[in-house]
Amino acid sequence: MAEAGESVKVAVRVRPFNQREKDRGAKLIIEMSGAQTRIKNPDTKDEPKMFAFDFSYWSHDGYTEQPNGVLEAKPGSKYASQQRVFDDLGKGVLDNAFKGFNCSLFAYGQTGSGKSYSMVGYGENKGIVPITCDELFKTMAKGNSDVKYQITFSMLEIYNEQVRDLLQKNNPKGGLQVRQNPKLGLFYVQDLKKVAVGSYQEIEKRIAEGTANRTVASTNMNATSSRAHTVVTIIFEQISKNEAGQETKKSSTINLVDLAGSERADSTGATGDRLKEGANINKSLSALGNVISALADLSMGKKKIMVPYRDSVLTKLLQNALGGNSKTVMIAALSPADINYDETLSTLRYADRAKKIKNKAVVNENPLDKMIRELREENEKLKKALAGGGAIPIEGGSGMSPEEREKMRREMEEEIRAQLTANQEALDMGSGWEEKMKRDQAEYDAENREKTMAEERKNKEPHFMNLNEDPLLSGMIVYFVSASKTTIGRKDADPVPTITLSGLSIQKNHAVITNEGGEVTLQPGGPGAKIKVNGAPLTGPRTLEHLDRVLFGSSHMYVFKNPLKPKKADGTPDHVDWDFAQTEIAQAKGFATGGMAGLTKDQQRAQEQVLEILPLVTEANAMSEELNKHKSFEVILISGAAQEGAGKETKVMVKMKNLLNGNTWLWERGKFMNRRYLMQDMYQRWLDGDEDVMKIPKEEDPFWEPTEDVLIGSCNAFLQSLGYALDFDDSLAVTDYKGTEEGQMSIVLTPSTQAGKPLDEEMFVDDPQELLGKPFYFKVTVRNCDVNKARYSKGLFVKYRVFNEAEYTQTPTLKGSLSPEWNHSRIVSFPSVTKEHLDYFDSGCITFLLYGVQEDVVPDSKLVKMSTKELREMESKTQRPGLGPRRSTSFGLDSSGDGTQLKAEFVLLQRKYERLEKKERRMQEICREWESKPSEQQQFEPFFRAVSAVAYSTGTKLKTRVHLLNQVLQKGSKNGDTVKKRGHSKTQKGDKQPAENQSKACIVM
Ligand SMILES: Nc1ncnc2c1ncn2[C@@H]1O[C@H](COP(=O)(O)OP(=O)(O)OP(=O)(O)O)[C@@H](O)[C@H]1O
Ligand SMILES: [Mg+2]
Repeated sequence: MAEAGESVKVAVRVRPFNQREKDRGAKLIIEMSGAQTRIKNPDTKDEPKMFAFDFSYWSHDGYTEQPNGVLEAKPGSKYASQQRVFDDLGKGVLDNAFKGFNCSLFAYGQTGSGKSYSMVGYGENKGIVPITCDELFKTMAKGNSDVKYQITFSMLEIYNEQVRDLLQKNNPKGGLQVRQNPKLGLFYVQDLKKVAVGSYQEIEKRIAEGTANRTVASTNMNATSSRAHTVVTIIFEQISKNEAGQETKKSSTINLVDLAGSERADSTGATGDRLKEGANINKSLSALGNVISALADLSMGKKKIMVPYRDSVLTKLLQNALGGNSKTVMIAALSPADINYDETLSTLRYADRAKKIKNKAVVNENPLDKMIRELREENEKLKKALAGGGAIPIEGGSGMSPEEREKMRREMEEEIRAQLTANQEALDMGSGWEEKMKRDQAEYDAENREKTMAEERKNKEPHFMNLNEDPLLSGMIVYFVSASKTTIGRKDADPVPTITLSGLSIQKNHAVITNEGGEVTLQPGGPGAKIKVNGAPLTGPRTLEHLDRVLFGSSHMYVFKNPLKPKKADGTPDHVDWDFAQTEIAQAKGFATGGMAGLTKDQQRAQEQVLEILPLVTEANAMSEELNKHKSFEVILISGAAQEGAGKETKVMVKMKNLLNGNTWLWERGKFMNRRYLMQDMYQRWLDGDEDVMKIPKEEDPFWEPTEDVLIGSCNAFLQSLGYALDFDDSLAVTDYKGTEEGQMSIVLTPSTQAGKPLDEEMFVDDPQELLGKPFYFKVTVRNCDVNKARYSKGLFVKYRVFNEAEYTQTPTLKGSLSPEWNHSRIVSFPSVTKEHLDYFDSGCITFLLYGVQEDVVPDSKLVKMSTKELREMESKTQRPGLGPRRSTSFGLDSSGDGTQLKAEFVLLQRKYERLEKKERRMQEICREWESKPSEQQQFEPFFRAVSAVAYSTGTKLKTRVHLLNQVLQKGSKNGDTVKKRGHSKTQKGDKQPAENQSKACIVM
């Protein structure tokens, strides 16, 4: 009953602005009408790009909140509610499931774009998954009573290419195995828990259970939940008798996939990172992209394409959903905001490709007894193979060492065992169903009782509730502190604390909480126990107020709730979330984060990135401490002015510092993200007791980098003077990314001949336009510099590029001095000056980058003995003063670039003025000489030539005015009586002839 290839259905949905977007006055860049979606680039005047999909859901505005919290469309608005999305997409899934087709629904989109909202939903606004499940049971209840239904539910997540069973609290190290069924060719997860469910409520609770497990695991592992893919699988089976009286089983596997947030290639980082191959950062997601592209190409008729399913865990598990026996729907979630333009456009392109895929779904219906018989027979064979041991065929065994052969034998044995278990499970689903149902039900009831009790306690007892970056995971963990004393710490503490946490920077005895009649006091459990309350480090006992934010270690963030004393501190909002708590921490660290309104888009983006990266940097520091890597990390904002060239965007980078020898490295944000992911992996392995982790070669260590030259700072030489063929000679301040002065550099730019000889003083360009089409040469000289910090004496050099040169010019490296004299010079030639060159002179600059050589010096033996933690503490003591305020200006209007430019303009004006003054003096001299001559010697021609020579080598105004003067004089000479006229003009110099007065005024101006 195969159907002809049917395309994957694609829907797009755009969400409302979130609070941060509203605060900064984000612009809407998405428009929808009918099946069309348009996206507008906020930075250009280009026409919007158009896309068409099967469904377009406008969920950006036009809704009202019902008293029960459900968002519904206002009358006449095009708002697409959760129900509407279900009606279109979910109903189709249900119908197909009843027909016996496999169905898949997956949500794709950038982090925070609304994937989970559409799939799972929040609060009363339930998403497709719960509504579909609910409807499934309702339809069954209404349906044919002769049909026996069996439903199993499982939930897993893929993180860092490892599969974690979300219905189990404890998972094996390294996650569950993904295996391939040799007969069907399909991949499955070995030992994944599949529970029998009898009602929608059970599924709902199971999803909550899965989400809670996910939260605990991700918090303990410091995993970023948006990097995880969540897969819910419902197997829906219908057993009925056909006309021949034979029992048949219709089976539909429904996969509901909430994918990890997609990110631009540059922010998943790794671009240019030595360790990029090691990171599984988004391997599954990029593999999914490749699979979709390959499938789309196949559907378009391209031949000989290998679909790379095997490249990742996710694509293995979704093989059927994507390119096989399944009816598949994809929802692409879109952010409406201008700053997400690139990501949103890439989501739309992805979706556009996906809609080309064609699948062939078939009804999965088989006679039950035949299926059971086959499974049994196969199991018999497998058991025999196992018992026989030697019966395991070893192909290509020749040339293998005994060890290799043994290893292979063991692997095959394991394969067989897995297969046996999987078959047995399938058999259970048939004959053993009733028992399985009972068992799962009992387990569910017990857990459910506990949950209901906890819900009631929340209204009566003070407690901590977790906050997570992913709103779906917030509120999933609750710790009550109703006892008079509660302790928090690691499970290996003695005695074991009341609340056990694990993960970074959690100490054995981390915190003590006392409760006296509802007054709850928190204090660190010992020295070095990291706790922050409302962003500030906690050093002694503190009484907690309702809705206070508490961070234990580096990743356990909670909000304290006290129903006994529900008065919150002044200034605390009614709703406290992750963003609020993180912003508060960023502010405490000195990053100004308030008032997005006055910031440019670039600054807003930088601010978002800081909020994202700051907790990760804290984590990297904690991992460095625990693994004793002697490295510290710091977020650095590089203003446009501190970067090469003019008009650059503020850049968020991370500085890594070797605490033993002071060497530093600057990492791009993407590279840091990549490294942090690897660090996390390393740390996890170390926690799992993998000793090899501490012995890995440094080349594979994410904390290690070869020593590189450090950028001390830069200075910009602006080029206006070149446009006037004037030289530039100045001592420029070399500033680092923070704007701190690191030294002075002497730079000279001299307009010259081709051979480098400075142009004649008399050569004066009045208007840069005059240079157009002519050859132009200038000499760049880096004379010397004075550097402030002694540690840069190991070598200093300067790098720069002129105009659009691809290569840098580099001075030699001078060692042993903090005042190196390079006296480097180089002639730059523009064979024919173009408009671009003139623009470059007018607003461009040459950025001179000053580098210091770093050496991997042997550190002080005293320092080596210190732990990373001690070193970091020591450093923070010496660095504290001044850090905060300096940084807090980072988001403000950084004008240091403008300052240098203004200064350059000023110098240029001054020089022009000096020139004019000189010319003027010369003219006055000529006039005086002429006047002082006896009238019979007052010859007009030589005078005219002299004035013209001076005038034409000076400024425009001067030139035109002198021209005027000349015209007047010439008129006089044409009138014949030169001498007399001259005399006349002399008398007129008094005040009678306005034209001449003006000319004169110009000359002395
Ligand atoms: N259609 C919508 N209507 C109202 N609010 C929405 C809608 N879609 C998303 N949101 C809100 O936007 C926020 C982010 O959405 P969501 O958590 O679904 O993103 P996500 O794509 O799953 O992100 P991540 O990749 O981080 O998991 C949530 O607070 C959610 O409530
Ligand atoms: Mg999500």
